[in-house]
Amino acid sequence: MAFAVQIAKGIFDLVRDDLALVEQEIAAQSCVAIEPVAEIASYLREGGGKRLRPALLLLASGAAGYRGESAVRLGAVVEMIHSATLVHDDVIDGAQTRRGRPSTNARWGNHMSVLAGDWLYMQSFEMALRERDFAILDILIELTQNMVEGELLQLTLLGRMDLTEADATELAYRKTACLFSGCARLGAVLGRQPKVVEEALAEYGRNAGLAFQLVDDLLDFTASPEQLGKPVLNDLKEGKVTLPLIFALQNGAPNGDHANGSQSATGARKLVAKVLEERGFSSVRPEEITNLVQETGALARASELAREYVSRAKACLEELPDTEYRRALLAVPDFILDRTN
Ligand code: IPE
Ligand code: IPE
Ligand code: MG
Ligand code: MG
Repeated sequence: MAFAVQIAKGIFDLVRDDLALVEQEIAAQSCVAIEPVAEIASYLREGGGKRLRPALLLLASGAAGYRGESAVRLGAVVEMIHSATLVHDDVIDGAQTRRGRPSTNARWGNHMSVLAGDWLYMQSFEMALRERDFAILDILIELTQNMVEGELLQLTLLGRMDLTEADATELAYRKTACLFSGCARLGAVLGRQPKVVEEALAEYGRNAGLAFQLVDDLLDFTASPEQLGKPVLNDLKEGKVTLPLIFALQNGAPNGDHANGSQSATGARKLVAKVLEERGFSSVRPEEITNLVQETGALARASELAREYVSRAKACLEELPDTEYRRALLAVPDFILDRTN
């Protein structure tokens, strides 16, 4: 729970009590599962995580004028959907570490993890069904389908160096931003807000989510594994050419490497192709890739883009009444930009 406690200080103070209720709700759900699943669900809950999605839902709901049981329940729902996607994602990626501990698949194996992920999905839908509200189910089903499609799309694009910014943005939307967007939209739905407010909050969440994924891509190049609780310089090893690298490939090799622009671009492509081919750093040193993204200005360009998503997110809140919840929502994108884990 270290991460959860950490984030609850500061901008999430406003919903700290509700976040504690979300934890209780999630704990209650794992109790109803049969043994291996109950154990895995507890392991996931105790492993911490930033609880960013329920926090977002609770704040959006407050900004939309609703506070109460439904927001807590849906906060638990979105965190459980998030956990399910992480469990499946770690199976797909063969990841050994998550939140600074062995991943579920590392501890229980792939078979058990896939089924535990399925159970978490279905349990979260059962909880959501208790709201007896088709609008809520529509949102949750659409976003879950989008996330699964995102993982499928990512599989088809693994190892591809010809990805464009548009490809990377679509992936980021599906994998990450659609859940953020759904959290903010659900807040508006709970507050029975008119469609324009619902769309504004959904767009806020989308931009915040795109910034979040971009920062995640950047941290893969700039952070330490201790900081992140998962390995770094890992995306490329997994065959994922993320936006900072797409920018580096467009910009060419490190400054001064070659006088001729097209030659330097070729140098950069060769380096990246080698790592993708070997799915690791055997003949290319990790520093060569970090230098590449640094010296081509790709990291700076990606950070600039993340900042742009952050200001777009904030602009979406202009029409909301000025409440403490709106002010907290305005601070979330900055937290996303500054995050180090
Ligand atoms: C991890 O999400 C998956 C991505 C979208 C990059 P988080 O970084 O929010 O994961 P936890 O819940 O805090 O561990
Ligand atoms: C994150 O995908 C999982 C989802 C958002 C579904 P990644 O594979 O890119 O992220 P990490 O690095 O494992 O957290
Ligand atoms: Mg992964
Ligand atoms: Mg990643």
